[in-house]
Amino acid sequence: FQAPTVGGGLNMAREIVIAPSILSADFAKLGAEVEAIDRDGCDWVHLDVMDGHFVPNITFGPDVVAALRPHSDKVFDTHLMIAPCDLYLEAFAKAGSDIITVHAEAGPHLDRSLQYIRSLGKKAGVSLTPSTPESAIEYVLDKLDLVLVMTVNPGFGGQTFIPAQLEKIRAIRKMIGERPIHLEVDGGVNVDTAGLVAEAGADALVAGSAVFKNGDYAKNIAAIREAAMAGVAA
Ligand code: DX5
Ligand code: ZN
Repeated sequence: FQAPTVGGGLNMAREIVIAPSILSADFAKLGAEVEAIDRDGCDWVHLDVMDGHFVPNITFGPDVVAALRPHSDKVFDTHLMIAPCDLYLEAFAKAGSDIITVHAEAGPHLDRSLQYIRSLGKKAGVSLTPSTPESAIEYVLDKLDLVLVMTVNPGFGGQTFIPAQLEKIRAIRKMIGERPIHLEVDGGVNVDTAGLVAEAGADALVAGSAVFKNGDYAKNIAAIREAAMAGVAA
């Protein structure tokens, strides 16, 4: 787990983490796809878990995460779009997740879920859907390693970035202050939006379709990273 470079101001030099989402990979050869993004320069591997209940789509569970684990040593960034989540946290920890992120909207006891994730020895994240305000994390900041701002409504890859979320990203960057908490953004991140989210304060960018399109993952990852770094410097 790479500790975030924090240092106060919005525009301080920050390392940018690129986390391709395998939601846009070829599900018939997931192991090879994870190896490919690893080789092609990703920092983390983003794993989108959907239950057909919290979100209107179904992907994969802990057994698939465990099967992928031997294919890369990079950080496994597991984004749980499931409700309830507590029942499954141990399974995702045992499967080899490094970060486990739950949705603030997925249940009434976010604080408990976060404590549970840390008690399993994993980094704890909270994700906010576009309609959830940043105040949802105000009283759990000391139990957080990552905040994930959704810039689309969770459930599908390839959706259009929601610009109103930039204000939320800025507000959360301020709330984080000097704390060693990553600020990740997920949904519609591509070369056109990466700079905007980085400028607003994001230090970890998830990208699905923008990485897996047209087969040249190395080029796609590098282009997103370059666009993000231009935003940091802006
Ligand atoms: C959406 C997922 C995202 C998704 C992003 O619910 O959480 O991680 O894969 O896909 P793109 O980058 O195509 O918007
Ligand atoms: Zn995701």
